[in-house]
Amino acid sequence: MSGVRLPAGFRWERLKRDHPRQQFRCGDDKVDAWLSASAWQHQKKHLSVTKALCNSDGRITSYYTLATGQVDFDDLPLDMTRRLPRRLLPVAVLAWLGIAIDRQGQGLGRLVLAQALRDCHDASETFPFVAVILDCIDDAAKTFYRRWDFQEIPGHPYRLFLSYRQLEAMTKGG
Ligand SMILES: CC(C)(COP(=O)(O)OP(=O)(O)OC[C@H]1O[C@@H](n2cnc3c(N)ncnc32)[C@H](O)[C@@H]1OP(=O)(O)O)[C@@H](O)C(=O)NCCC(=O)NCCS
Repeated sequence: MSGVRLPAGFRWERLKRDHPRQQFRCGDDKVDAWLSASAWQHQKKHLSVTKALCNSDGRITSYYTLATGQVDFDDLPLDMTRRLPRRLLPVAVLAWLGIAIDRQGQGLGRLVLAQALRDCHDASETFPFVAVILDCIDDAAKTFYRRWDFQEIPGHPYRLFLSYRQLEAMTKGG
């Protein structure tokens, strides 16, 4: 995870108003609609940050959105909360992630997820959290995330988490 290497000509950009957000299509209308209609507005209000992976033509090939949140102590599994205080706990939220249809199946999903988790890890040096949380849009997305050790939050089959401890191990493991 340490060296998140990009294909030639690709670059990460923090979402800007003039990015071609409306053209992005990943095969899921909700994921497209978030980018075209909401991501910029939320970023302006400091509710979330979206990073776009642009190709040499300036087209958005992939994106992810990060935010912060809180979860109930009781929602997390016991083996994770054993030494934590019984209160709302801070989490990083991987709110959205999408890869353009014509770029899927080429390793970009893995690369984009690795970059999002690297951002989470870097942020944790300043703003700590106990886990990265995400809500899967469907079973396919859930299968994708489960490959990287995300686990179900008990009682919430489409809400997954990666503990900070796992995140740190992944970051060290490269
Ligand atoms: C799910 C998604 C992010 C995967 O992106 P991708 O670029 O095709 O994934 P990659 O090519 O990097 O694949 C990485 C690994 O995940 C696997 N994978 C990819 N999509 C998968 C899926 N839908 N189900 C199960 N496994 C999947 C690949 O086989 C690959 O495994 P390997 O390393 O053993 O070969 C992409 O299809 C997408 O954007 N879908 C629509 C939006 C969405 O579901 N977003 C996520 C929830 S918000």
